[in-house]
Amino acid sequence: MLTLVPLTLLILGVAGASVDSRPKPAKINLTSRKVSRDTLRRRALNPVNLPLANYFNGTDLQWFGEIQVGTPPQNLTVVFDTGSTDLEFPSTACGATCATQKKFDPSKSSTFVDGRRTSTITFGTGVGVDPVIGDNWQLTLRSGTDTVAVGGLVAKSVSLFVITNQSPTFSPDPFDGIQGMGSGAQGFFAGLLEQDLPSLFSLFLTPKAVGNAEMTFGGIDDTKFQGDLVYAPQSSDDGATWQLQSTGISVNGKTTEVLNQPRSFIFDSGTSNMVLTKTDAEAVYALISPDIKPNNAEPGTYGIACNRISSLPAELSFTFTSQQGQPFNLTIPSSELSVGPFRSNPSLCQTLINADEFTLLGASVLKHYYSVWDIGNQRMGFAPTGKPASSRAL
Ligand SMILES: *[C@@H]1O[C@H](CO)[C@@H](O)[C@H](O)[C@H]1NC(C)=O
Ligand SMILES: *[C@@H]1O[C@H](CO)[C@@H](O)[C@H](O)[C@H]1NC(C)=O
Ligand SMILES: *[C@@H]1O[C@H](CO)[C@@H](O)[C@H](O)[C@H]1NC(C)=O
Ligand SMILES: *[C@@H]1O[C@H](CO)[C@@H](O)[C@H](O)[C@H]1NC(C)=O
Repeated sequence: MLTLVPLTLLILGVAGASVDSRPKPAKINLTSRKVSRDTLRRRALNPVNLPLANYFNGTDLQWFGEIQVGTPPQNLTVVFDTGSTDLEFPSTACGATCATQKKFDPSKSSTFVDGRRTSTITFGTGVGVDPVIGDNWQLTLRSGTDTVAVGGLVAKSVSLFVITNQSPTFSPDPFDGIQGMGSGAQGFFAGLLEQDLPSLFSLFLTPKAVGNAEMTFGGIDDTKFQGDLVYAPQSSDDGATWQLQSTGISVNGKTTEVLNQPRSFIFDSGTSNMVLTKTDAEAVYALISPDIKPNNAEPGTYGIACNRISSLPAELSFTFTSQQGQPFNLTIPSSELSVGPFRSNPSLCQTLINADEFTLLGASVLKHYYSVWDIGNQRMGFAPTGKPASSRAL
């Protein structure tokens, strides 16, 4: 999920309190941190691997894993979302719209501190493959802090938000909440970096049929990819989004004047398909088939008859530049072109690219690469996923 609209915070109850602005992401100054005796004595945290479950409904939608919140710990599942920056999960205060999710009970945690601020957060991409319309992906939140743990790594007094209401669009989700993993270490992850966990995380987002998806906090699991990681410098400095500057797009090995232009892509693990501007989306589709048309019943989407889609070659390559100045491609295979039938017309299949005002690559490309999200060095690394280590020649 991509957060587009800044949090609007409203102070509850406290007389004379001023209205807070959006919380600034904590930027960790790695190069200039004073090394105290305390730090030298303390053992740095070791990286941990967390298995991720796949939410599949016609196509791979989201990957999520288990975290523990509070004292004693309450288990919740969250999507690790590089398109947003905060931690949110339902509280027992959320009613019918959270009926299917596990709910955190603040009254049962001795370490929970109520921050008393309420706010809403609106997402620019949702959980599924449909474009967002208005505020149909919105959470109503109340601030707090508590202890949060992942795979045995524990951070105390983490800023978080409990969900007190949510758009019904979130109701069918098999996960409970969202942990933002923006480019400027927030909340839980900032708490781990303060304990000297190496300042990066890695994602192995596999298709449902492959399984064994995994997230590594503070490290790289080199049994999950082939060859060397290629790194490219992050092109945004907003402390929130992960972005890389691309030099051009090719479709089945061909490009056009419109497509062979520089553009910055947001990389969002919480969006399953991808988003281009209308001009770019239509330039890509024109190279695949003239019969891929906008579906006016669901504005921003495109589709073609389901019985034609599997025969269409639609290999999309996005060219980036490595830190060493070499071009490299991230490629989406033709098998990703269909994201499944439209609800409004089941004989029409939705195609991968939605049109909107931003440019974003999601899981449809991340599924085919091991990805490293290096906060300390503000860069991203990629290597093709391949056979598991056990069946690889050593
Ligand atoms: C962060 O690092 C920069 C560059 O070394 C330095 O100028 C600045 O004072 C540091 N900030 C903090 C808060 O330590
Ligand atoms: C899967 O998608 C169908 C059609 O869009 C929808 O009716 C159903 O509720 C979804 N199931 C889940 C578990 O989200
Ligand atoms: C929470 O999850 C942990 C680890 O997955 C498990 O050992 C524990 O039994 C769970 N606790 C509850 C209350 O479900
Ligand atoms: C990227 O893909 C395009 C289209 O297939 C190809 O022409 C180009 O040589 C590729 N670049 C690299 C560095 O592999």
